[in-house]
Amino acid sequence: MEVSEKLAPSPSQFSLRTITYKDAYADLANDVFKGLSANPKTLAPKYFYDAHGSRLFDKICDTKEYYPTRIEDALLASSAVKIMESARPAHIIELGSGVSKKTRHLLDACEHLNLSIDYHPVDICGEIIEQAGLHLSQSYEWLNIKGVVADYCDDMTTLPDHDEPRLFVFLGGTFGNFHELEAIQFLEQLKSIMRPDDRFLLGFDRIKDHDVLNLAYNDRAGLTASFNRNVLAVINRELSANFDLEAFEHDAWFNEKESRIEMHLRSTKAQKVRIESINLDVEFDADETILTEISRKFTPDHIKTLLQKSGMKVTDHFQPANNYFSLVMAQPESVLL
Ligand code: AVI
Repeated sequence: MEVSEKLAPSPSQFSLRTITYKDAYADLANDVFKGLSANPKTLAPKYFYDAHGSRLFDKICDTKEYYPTRIEDALLASSAVKIMESARPAHIIELGSGVSKKTRHLLDACEHLNLSIDYHPVDICGEIIEQAGLHLSQSYEWLNIKGVVADYCDDMTTLPDHDEPRLFVFLGGTFGNFHELEAIQFLEQLKSIMRPDDRFLLGFDRIKDHDVLNLAYNDRAGLTASFNRNVLAVINRELSANFDLEAFEHDAWFNEKESRIEMHLRSTKAQKVRIESINLDVEFDADETILTEISRKFTPDHIKTLLQKSGMKVTDHFQPANNYFSLVMAQPESVLL
């Protein structure tokens, strides 16, 4: 995670609690061994995000082709007051908060509605929470920021628990990077810690024209290609491997049957790669690929069904005129005895 600020936010407005300290690469050796010994070969997308990868991802978000960030931001700007008016939370808990840029729309809405809330950014990277905390505390003097360093997928029971209503937020379409089972586990875990007054705000990317989808993952400047190859640089550095990045091509396309973008790295020739730290030689055929990421695209009905299966119901749905992206509000389904 890249962090450019060394200043710390004021302790009167900001605190940071570490739930789990897990090294970002704690599982790398195991994951790489498993993924590259499998057929077809896979790698987990979380390893894209070292300092260089995070910088590339930020740049991708600014490209003309990658619409989700821009559209979700505009959608939040236009719907934040309605969201906060209906949820009226005392706490906002944001999972995978990063730099908390889009969250500002929710905080602006709190100001507009005179709502006083505590903001709990939850991220695996404590430094990025501090950076966000510093910026937010300068803009919102009234705001208490109670950061939590945690891997929210590990154990949600450690998230801030309060009697007053909480709004859980999961933005950026990151939900689409989960496989079906992971998505269900994520929603079920979240539902299991929600109280009746709690609400959930989820951002997800929609199925759309295939050219638009394919372009979003194949930007002209080649940033997504570099981002994709960066996972090999991470393995070279962390596990003493000898991947030749030039010998792998970026290959991303919309798989209509699975309703997902698949990002692959395609070996341009038959080759053998040595990964010293795990004592593994990986053989590649020419044109053999490694699946490095899936990015699922949804219909509102699919999301509604997934939420229903985990015991939640959709209470509101926000979409732009072109239906490119959605925000849904959900709440726990009450159990009638
Ligand atoms: C983080 N995630 C929602 C992005 C996506 O669109 O699935 C990651 C990404 N991969 C390539 N471009 C962006």
